[in-house]
Amino acid sequence: MTQRGTLGVAVIGTGRMGADHVRRISEVTSGARVAAVVDVDAERAKSVAAGVEGCTAHTEPAAAMAAEDVDAVLIASPGPAHEAALLAAFERDLPVLCEKPLTPDAASALRILQAEQKLGHRRVQVGFMRRYDAEYIKLKALLDSGQLGRPLMLHNRHRNAASPPGFTDAMLINDSVVHEMDVTRWLLGQEITAVTALRPTPSDNAPEGLTDPQFVVLETDGGALVDVEIFVNCGFGYQVQAEAVCERGTARIGDGHAMVTNAAGRWGGTIAQDFVERFAEAYDREVQAWVDATRRGEVTGPSVWDGYAAAAVCEAGVRAQAEGRRTEVELIERPALYR
Ligand SMILES: NC(=O)c1ccc[n+]([C@@H]2O[C@H](COP(=O)([O-])OP(=O)(O)OC[C@H]3O[C@@H](n4cnc5c(N)ncnc54)[C@H](O)[C@@H]3O)[C@@H](O)[C@H]2O)c1
Repeated sequence: MTQRGTLGVAVIGTGRMGADHVRRISEVTSGARVAAVVDVDAERAKSVAAGVEGCTAHTEPAAAMAAEDVDAVLIASPGPAHEAALLAAFERDLPVLCEKPLTPDAASALRILQAEQKLGHRRVQVGFMRRYDAEYIKLKALLDSGQLGRPLMLHNRHRNAASPPGFTDAMLINDSVVHEMDVTRWLLGQEITAVTALRPTPSDNAPEGLTDPQFVVLETDGGALVDVEIFVNCGFGYQVQAEAVCERGTARIGDGHAMVTNAAGRWGGTIAQDFVERFAEAYDREVQAWVDATRRGEVTGPSVWDGYAAAAVCEAGVRAQAEGRRTEVELIERPALYR
């Protein structure tokens, strides 16, 4: 580590998330600096690097990882590029924060699972940032305390103002519901065993090629039932809500009651417009936790196993959509490294 223990980070991919992580590491996170950035778009890499003192720009992940002042890697390139970047980081045994998805499918996630086991130690934290959201953390602590008894059901609502161009039914599962899949596994400490995807008559506002909204049901190996309303063209904003129904009570998060106003005969608050706004503090906490653990020589947070399990559940979800039936999740046995 350079500059009295400061972690030198190479950020791979400088698009929306990557550029935001560069800003975060430079302005919010303590104990780290952006030492290098990588983008296949050389001009983009150069322009992001120009804003950070001492930061070099590259078009190849391996070149950035070879730089002397790079101690760790943050991967924020598109999902299909993650496997190559992860394997390059493993070559140098560098710690990694990898944006979700770990990789786009279960077969490639399994290859990463095997490669990390070959290293013999965990190296990767996967970017499932909801685990760092203050409200989700409170809900998890309450469920873990056992005060409400055993969780029986989880109701989730996940709404976006509008989907990006070209968004498909499969992306609804892989890019959106994947967050509920991870958070379900984490909150309940259970694996998801089966997925069903149901569809009402679509909204007239659903773009061509997308069935929106959908209602996804997850079953777990602990016997819990989980539903997810996913509605990515709701028009009014970005909302993520979860309610746990337990034996002796319920707990609900995501109502966004931070400030309530009374004016002109109405009461109300505001609704976040996108995930960058809603989860801003969760991203900050996620990156800080990664930097702190890395500087202590530890790896914490969502693991490669969690990334693989999410990919396997997504695969079952996409099959459930396509075939219109309940689909079981295929998971290998959890390796010792992740127990
Ligand atoms: N955790 C979250 O809430 C969240 C939200 C959005 C996106 N993401 C994830 O973040 C990652 C990036 O998403 P985004 O929205 O920033 O995408 P983006 O398209 O805005 O940016 C991707 C950038 O990566 C570059 N790139 C493409 N291939 C590359 C390669 N092989 N090596 C290096 N750079 C490459 C592109 O030129 C582009 O600048 C994805 O994995 C996505 O799923 C996570």
